[in-house]
Amino acid sequence: MRELATGQANGKIILMGEHAVVYGEPAIALPFSAAQVTATIQSAPEDWLDSSYFSGPLAKAPTTLNNLKELLHLLRHDFATGPVICRIASTIPAERGMGSSAAVAVAVTRAFLAWQQVEETPTGLLHYVNTSEKIAHGNPSGIDGAATSGTEPILFERQQPFIPFPLNLDGCLIVADTGVKGKTRDTVADVAHLMSVAPTATKQIITRLGDLTREAKTAISANQSYRLGNLMNEAQALLQQLSVSNGTLDHLVQVALNNGALGAKLTGGGRGGCMIALASDTQSAAIIANQLTAAGAQETWLQALGCRPAVSAWL
Ligand code: MEV
Repeated sequence: MRELATGQANGKIILMGEHAVVYGEPAIALPFSAAQVTATIQSAPEDWLDSSYFSGPLAKAPTTLNNLKELLHLLRHDFATGPVICRIASTIPAERGMGSSAAVAVAVTRAFLAWQQVEETPTGLLHYVNTSEKIAHGNPSGIDGAATSGTEPILFERQQPFIPFPLNLDGCLIVADTGVKGKTRDTVADVAHLMSVAPTATKQIITRLGDLTREAKTAISANQSYRLGNLMNEAQALLQQLSVSNGTLDHLVQVALNNGALGAKLTGGGRGGCMIALASDTQSAAIIANQLTAAGAQETWLQALGCRPAVSAWL
């Protein structure tokens, strides 16, 4: 056992397929390295958590951190260890569709495994992360754990091995934070409710979202950014029908489109959180990012779609 061990994870952006992925449709997600989490684990006299949300005995952590509490209990139980202090430092805004809860679970599990000098395997890591995500989100597809633990864009399907997916598109993605906390747990539950009260119409929307993701894959492989933009716009209209967008997201989507975006949509759980817009190049992306800020976006980032790391929109 090491004295102190560290684990890391990054944020994620879902390009296409959120919500539909819960029902077995594919989704495309990218790691978002502009936002990261680092966790450390070390022996301690009692279980202790040190994070920006809460610092103190783990037993007294608020219920909103139950996912993390349970994760640490499970790891402690499985590896039969004594108490630990877990320190978490994160630049991923919480509840903004960037996979913050999954990334914390990935970083903490990695730190714990490293502390125990146990080799990390994707299956072992995701077992712990998805257990924690079930508590955070109710019925997670697993995409957040997969995307926040990796370094490459992925094409993800529930219960399938996920496939690294190179993005070689001439285009630039703008990510904008509405500043409003998203409610993935609620939106996932609301889509499940729609599925039970209006199964035919809801299944049609989900199937179409899946088709749009498959088409997006083809568009990306063929470097067709205009086509990808149109697919994003159609996805946003369907996500609105699923009731997972809201006025703030719709407004920022419209601002992006009015300022030259090829397509725009929410990303992640919705009803708050972040939106994404596709621009033909970095210059156009900077203009769109500027307008999104003027329209109330709390923060914006640019992410080239050739797998290069994200940079601040203001650089
Ligand atoms: C959340 O980032 C993505 C959702 O599709 C939920 C999930 O896949 O677990 C909304």
